Amino acid sequence: MIIVKLGGSVFSDKRGPWKNFREDVVRSIAAEIAKFYPDKSFIVVHGGGSFGHKPAKEYGIRDGLVGLSGSDLFERKRGFSLTHNAMLEASVRIVNAFMEQGLPAVSVSSSSVFLMDSNRVVYGDVEPIRKMIETGFIPVLFGDVAVDLKKGVDILSGDQIVTYLTKLFKPRKVIFLMSVDGIYDGKPGEGTLLFEIPADRIDALIKRLELEAKASGEDVTGGIINKLKEAKEIARFSEVWFVNGLVPGRLEGAIKGDGFGTRIPKA
Ligand code: IPE
Repeated sequence: MIIVKLGGSVFSDKRGPWKNFREDVVRSIAAEIAKFYPDKSFIVVHGGGSFGHKPAKEYGIRDGLVGLSGSDLFERKRGFSLTHNAMLEASVRIVNAFMEQGLPAVSVSSSSVFLMDSNRVVYGDVEPIRKMIETGFIPVLFGDVAVDLKKGVDILSGDQIVTYLTKLFKPRKVIFLMSVDGIYDGKPGEGTLLFEIPADRIDALIKRLELEAKASGEDVTGGIINKLKEAKEIARFSEVWFVNGLVPGRLEGAIKGDGFGTRIPKA
C-alpha cells in the first residue's frame, strides 16, 4: 500500500482565486498512479489548497466553539459547514480526474471518520476505509473541519490524517506531493535540497530550521517544520518521500524508488 498526500499547493494556487483548480496537474498525477494500479493499492489524502483555507480562516474555525453563544455560535457553525462544502467540491474534482484515468477513486469525508482532542486526532473509524481498499477502491480523504472533544470544532490537516492512517495500515511508502522539489536545509529554493534524511537526523534539522525562522523573523519554511514532525512519526512505520507534484514523473519516480526529491528511509 502507498499513501499519497496531494498538497493543496499542488492541485491549486493557494494565493489565487477561491476554488481555483489545476486540472492538468491532477490529471497527470492520476495518470502516474494508474501505471501502478491495481498491482499496488493506494490511499490519497489531499489538502485544502485554494478551497478550504479561506473559509476556515474567515470563520475562525481553529478558535473552536467554546465561549460562543447566539449568532456568534451560529456563524462559526455555518463556517464549519461552508468549509466542509468547499472541501467536498475539491474532492469531487480530484475524484473525477482520477476516474477519467480509469481509477476507482471514492471520496471519504474526514470529518465523518475522525474525532480530535486538543488539536490531535484521537479517534478514527477506519474499518470502511480498510474494506474499501480490500475491495480494490482508492479512498480519497482530505484535510477537513472536524469535531474536537474540547474545543468543539477544529481544522484537521491532511498531514495528520496521513500519520494516523500510516500507524494503522503501515503502508510500504508515504509520498508527499509538494510545490517544491523536496526538503531543503533552509528556505526552499535557497538552501540545499536534501536527497536523503535519516530519521534520527530530523530533530536536528527541525532545530536548525526553527533557528533560521527566528533569525529572519518570518516563516521561511512554509509549514515544512510541521511536515518534518509528522514525517518523523511516519518513518517509524514506512519509507517517506517528499517530491514535487507539479513536475510530471516525480511521483512515478518515488513510487518506483528512484525518484528525484527527499527520501527518509524507514527508521
Ligand atoms: C487543510 O488541510 C484543510 C482545511 C483548510 C479545511 P491541509 O493543511 O492538509 O492543506 P494544504 O495541503 O496545506 O493545503
